[in-house]
Amino acid sequence: MRHVLTLFELSSAEIERIFIVAEDLKTKLQQGVREPILPGRVMALLFEKPSLRTRVSFEACMTHLGGATQFLGAEVGWGKRESIADFAGVLGQYVDVIVCRANQHARVEELARFSGCPVINGLTDLAHPCQALADLFTMREVFGGLAGRTLAYIGDANNVACSLAVACAKLGVRFAIASPRGYQFEEGFLKQLQQDSPKCEVTATTDPAKAVQDADAVYTDVWTSMGQEAEQEERRRAFAAYQVNADLMAQAPRHAIFLHCLPARRGEEVTDAVMDGPQSRVLQQAANRLHAQKGLLAWLLGSQG
Ligand code: CP
Ligand code: NVA
Repeated sequence: MRHVLTLFELSSAEIERIFIVAEDLKTKLQQGVREPILPGRVMALLFEKPSLRTRVSFEACMTHLGGATQFLGAEVGWGKRESIADFAGVLGQYVDVIVCRANQHARVEELARFSGCPVINGLTDLAHPCQALADLFTMREVFGGLAGRTLAYIGDANNVACSLAVACAKLGVRFAIASPRGYQFEEGFLKQLQQDSPKCEVTATTDPAKAVQDADAVYTDVWTSMGQEAEQEERRRAFAAYQVNADLMAQAPRHAIFLHCLPARRGEEVTDAVMDGPQSRVLQQAANRLHAQKGLLAWLLGSQG
């Protein structure tokens, strides 16, 4: 049994396999075919934080694939009414897979330890693997392949940035990140990345213009993630020079696309002109959450792995 708590747990070949299945299922859906490859399978969606994309795309995935979902919000009392171990041991007997969005990564790890069924991380403070799968799937779709491409990430070295860095390292994509001091990757993470993918090409700078100079994709995320609201003002000041706007996009190659995991705070990390401009692929990227996750589920639960 496999869990997907971070992308460190997947090999490059496994990610490529997920993309091939995702591509096939996306084409079929566009032709009106919803192949029920997971009949009767049940997914629990255990969420401690709000969500549009992750929740609804997983619900739609399971419906398309012939399975069902149950959404469990705060009222289920996870870790409050009973221990996480007891909760996981029970829930894992009712369902085939759990997607969990949690405040602390350690809670998802504990859930996985005791669940007896696969657990997929639907976002924690440390990682957002499903997002990065959809993002790299989008780049692969736009450019017809990934090897030798460069993704530039501007902003906070947060959960999304960490998962993107791992996905890029595994798929031969250069990763250039520009963040202010104090908001950069931790040394421990960079060491783990290097050990996991010795050939990875990661560059870190404080200069956004430098990061985007060879970019095929320019990516940003909110300056203040869920759970960091108390730091909002401080973060607005720290990231003021890190907005992705028309001036910054003009420093990137002309063919570069713009990506954002969404939700966006327009006027902060990105301007309307970039979000709605010709280089933006944010809607295609959001749509691909559905398709990439189908590939992931087929690999994890189906016979297509
Ligand atoms: N990008 C993303 O995970 O969006 P939600 O928070 O709406 O799920
Ligand atoms: N970094 C953001 C991503 C939201 C999808 C957060 O954690 O809130």
